[in-house]
Amino acid sequence: MTDRELINAAFKALENAYAPYSGFRVGAAVECEDNIVFTGCNVENAALGDTVCAERVALFKAISEGRKSIIRIAVAAHSDEYCMPCGSCRQAISEFSKDAEILSARSDGRYVSYKLSELLPHQFEPK
Ligand code: THU
Repeated sequence: MTDRELINAAFKALENAYAPYSGFRVGAAVECEDNIVFTGCNVENAALGDTVCAERVALFKAISEGRKSIIRIAVAAHSDEYCMPCGSCRQAISEFSKDAEILSARSDGRYVSYKLSELLPHQFEPK
C-alpha cells in the first residue's frame, strides 16, 4: 500500500469521528506486519479525560484482531497544521512496533513522515 492509500484510509475513518466536544475530527490507519490495515477515529466522551485518540483506536483494533506489531500509521485531520500523535499514543505505538513510520496529513493532502524514534526518543520499551 502506498503512503497516499494509507492516508486516504485515515481520511475515510475520520468521517466516523465522534468529536462533539472539541469539534476536531481525526482519522488513523495502521498497517500491520502482514500489511493488513485497521482504521480508527477519535471517540470523545462527556467525561473529557475518557476520550480516546484515533491512533489508539486503530492500534487497539489491530491488536485485538491478533496482530502483534505495526509498521506504519497514518493520521489525518482537516487542519492547516499537521496533527501529530499525543504522548500517550506515541507510547502505545512503541509497545507494538520496532520503529514504526508515522505519517501525518493535513487538509490540503500534504503530509510529513517521521520514525517513532524521532517523536519518542529514549522510549521506555517492553524489553
Ligand atoms: N486527537 C486525536 O485523535 N489524535 C491526535 O493525534 C491528537 C488529538 C483527538 C483527541 C480529541 O478528541 C481531539 O483530537 C482534540 O484533542
